[in-house]
Amino acid sequence: MTNISMNTSNAAKVLASPLQINGSQIKNRIILGPMAVLRPTEDGRPSEQTIAFLKRRAQGGVGLVIVGGSVCSERAWNESPFSPNLRFDKDAFVDDLKRVSDAVHECGAAVFAQLFPSFGRMGVPRNGQWILAASPKPVNLGAGGLPNHLYIPGGRITPVPHEASIQEIKDIEASVVAGARRAKASGFDGVEIGAHMCYFYSSFLSPLANQRTDEYGGSVANRARALRDVVAAVRAEVGPDYPVGVRMSVNDHMPDGQGPEGYAEVAAHIAEVGLDFISLSEGNYESMRDNVPSTSGNMLNHGGPQAFRKALGSGVLLFLSSTPDPRQAAAAIWDGDVDASMLARQMLADPDYAVKVIEGREAEIVWCDHANSCLRRLILNAPVACHKNPEMGREDPKAKRSSPVQNLGVWVAGNNVLMGVADKLVRATQKK
Ligand SMILES: Cc1cc2nc3c(=O)[nH]c(=O)nc-3n(C[C@H](O)[C@H](O)[C@H](O)COP(=O)(O)O)c2cc1C
Ligand code: SF4
Repeated sequence: MTNISMNTSNAAKVLASPLQINGSQIKNRIILGPMAVLRPTEDGRPSEQTIAFLKRRAQGGVGLVIVGGSVCSERAWNESPFSPNLRFDKDAFVDDLKRVSDAVHECGAAVFAQLFPSFGRMGVPRNGQWILAASPKPVNLGAGGLPNHLYIPGGRITPVPHEASIQEIKDIEASVVAGARRAKASGFDGVEIGAHMCYFYSSFLSPLANQRTDEYGGSVANRARALRDVVAAVRAEVGPDYPVGVRMSVNDHMPDGQGPEGYAEVAAHIAEVGLDFISLSEGNYESMRDNVPSTSGNMLNHGGPQAFRKALGSGVLLFLSSTPDPRQAAAAIWDGDVDASMLARQMLADPDYAVKVIEGREAEIVWCDHANSCLRRLILNAPVACHKNPEMGREDPKAKRSSPVQNLGVWVAGNNVLMGVADKLVRATQKK
């Protein structure tokens, strides 16, 4: 329990303290969470806007930048639900990616690449390629509740994925290993394997999504196997000192789903092969309300980080999500429940959040309103912007803005009256 008064000044001290992640020293404990808002070029290289967006957050004082939504296989490039993505799937991209790591380093922050080898149950079948997962289970989007101003008229069930064969699991593993090698060659300081949100690896971790009867299903050890094997293979590739982590859910937040203790048990199996950190994620696409909460500290209130800490000890660092209240995040670090605070939307609303927290200028923070127009833009494939921060999405002044039609679409999609009507119409059509 916290035995110091976690006022603004103490919170600043805790969050400003350095963090050692294996061979990398991070100057403080505030992290830019991964977000696919990078607007790379159509062929998947970093654009001026990609670099300007990341650089701006590094200038705002974060210790670590995690580069979101990056693909490390042609499969992921083809099936991405929010394309184009930054590519790590060919050696030809290494020189361009180096520009990203150089730009972030120049501003004094470290940079990790989040690698997706496949979007699994959330993939989009394209170019004659069907989607793969642990088991043929589609995603009932938002079944467990949707966040503020996000509506899915009629609900939506994704296409049914094929059960991945053992050869396909091994091919996907090889693509992550190659992606990690390229990230290291591009000057990135570490890698995070995306294993959350109904993406490929997450479909193995919970019995709710994994119905296999082979060595990849059933027991905790079996459900951990695919992710454990890929972590071990990446570790063998990048060496003992290079930071390797995963992003995984702490809780399905679904009836009959897996809770924090179950996920933590799976994580403990994966950690044995050389995992440095876990970026904690809450819920998934079936429980979006929990995944993108509207108040600070929900993850701590639900006990996810505490269960992971109990199962893993202090050997694996834990990154807390969705806790922009600096005092709450600092108290959780001080108490030993987590090691760093990782923020996404708050960093869109205020790129200077970190420096303001560390300098005790909390009153100057521009707070995210959790009304999620950024997410609606992502879903509608419009350039992501933030109405609390007119600079967001145009850190490079030449970056293209969304069109008036796209803006109208984003507004309509966030209007509960119009979406209520759309919902009735879609459901009536579905009944016929
Ligand atoms: C626009 C947008 C894009 C996102 N893209 C990614 C992504 O590429 N990878 C990922 O792991 N999470 C992604 N997320 C989820 C965030 O990392 C984070 O888990 C979620 O927003 C909850 O954290 P927050 O409350 O700090 O926003 C995205 C979120 C937003 C709003
Ligand atoms: S648009 Fe901006 S203020 Fe609104 S939820 Fe997204 S980041 Fe927060």
